[in-house]
Amino acid sequence: MSKQKVIVTGSSGMLGRALCGVLDKDYQVFGIDLENRSGFKKFVKCDITKRNEVRKVFSAHHPDVVVHAAAFTDVDACESRRKKAKLINTGGTINLARIAGKMGSIFVFLSTDYVFDGRKKRPYLESDKPRPLNFYGRTKLLAENFIRRNLDKYFIIRTTWLYGKGGKNFINTVIKLSRDRRMIKIVDDQKGAPTNVMDLAESIGRLLEKAVARPQQYKGIYNITNSGSCSWYSMAKEIVKKMNLGVKTEPIKSKELKRPAKRPLNSVLNNNKFKRLVKKPMRNWKDALSAYLIELCAANGKNSGKHKRNIDHLNAITKAKVNKG
Ligand SMILES: NC(=O)c1ccc[n+]([C@@H]2O[C@H](COP(=O)([O-])OP(=O)(O)OC[C@H]3O[C@@H](n4cnc5c(N)ncnc54)[C@H](OP(=O)(O)O)[C@@H]3O)[C@@H](O)[C@H]2O)c1
Repeated sequence: MSKQKVIVTGSSGMLGRALCGVLDKDYQVFGIDLENRSGFKKFVKCDITKRNEVRKVFSAHHPDVVVHAAAFTDVDACESRRKKAKLINTGGTINLARIAGKMGSIFVFLSTDYVFDGRKKRPYLESDKPRPLNFYGRTKLLAENFIRRNLDKYFIIRTTWLYGKGGKNFINTVIKLSRDRRMIKIVDDQKGAPTNVMDLAESIGRLLEKAVARPQQYKGIYNITNSGSCSWYSMAKEIVKKMNLGVKTEPIKSKELKRPAKRPLNSVLNNNKFKRLVKKPMRNWKDALSAYLIELCAANGKNSGKHKRNIDHLNAITKAKVNKG
């Protein structure tokens, strides 16, 4: 039997490239993006804001599933470049969703914790009322609303604090800053769940295993993140400790940073609905972070003694934890 076809949008981005790698084992995957930065072999150049380009890709490939990870993800820039943010995050999603709906494809949309205002004291449920604080969150919520109203085979995945290869992320920033500074100040009043894009891509694969057979039955919103939670400050301390970076860290409040976009103080999402569906919980954020750091050191340190020492250190602390049970 021939494999089902999946289009992954944003295939050069952090999550998109992980999705292409993971899903390519079981599906025939086509990646689309503005440029092929990941070198994925089945790449089609396509700007999702251009309806005719989207139509061409769909007519050529007739996807069974679309996993839509492309977005304008610079949250601060979305405040000053509102037209662009809305064109890509809302307009681009609507272009894809309309064609997917017409062709009967399952539509999987990547959304965000930033649809919430962060005032809730406990982890957010899928059914909680969204109230975005920033423009990026508004553009993603408008896209969610269009999908919910117009499609009957859809999955909206809300996730948080992604990191992985091929994108700007917090881990790379901490490592970079620790090279130039003796002390780094990090926000301690925003709480979330750092999520490894490889774990998220594998979870989306598990969701598809269920969804492809009965999309109408399982459709809806799902929170998917690594388990547990922390502040950016605690995450930075964990990176510094695990990588032996030797830099001091100091906690600060969000308002001291004066960033253009407001962020929710509580970004933690409750993953129970997803756990019930796939019967496999996501691992804890600290274990997922260790796995990523080991990969990062291995990739950077083929000839470097420093990275080799970091890998040994990471392996030692990861093993010690496992031995402790
Ligand atoms: N990163 C996070 O912490 C986070 C948290 C929650 C949810 N999400 C959501 O998860 C998804 C993946 O995030 P990510 O961090 O992997 O994003 P990313 O690394 O920024 O990747 C997004 C990709 O989409 C591409 N793109 C932008 N405009 C496009 C257009 N008009 N047509 C085609 N492709 C376009 C980007 O290209 P350029 O780079 O050239 O613009 C980039 O390659 C996004 O939908 C995001 O909203 C992310």
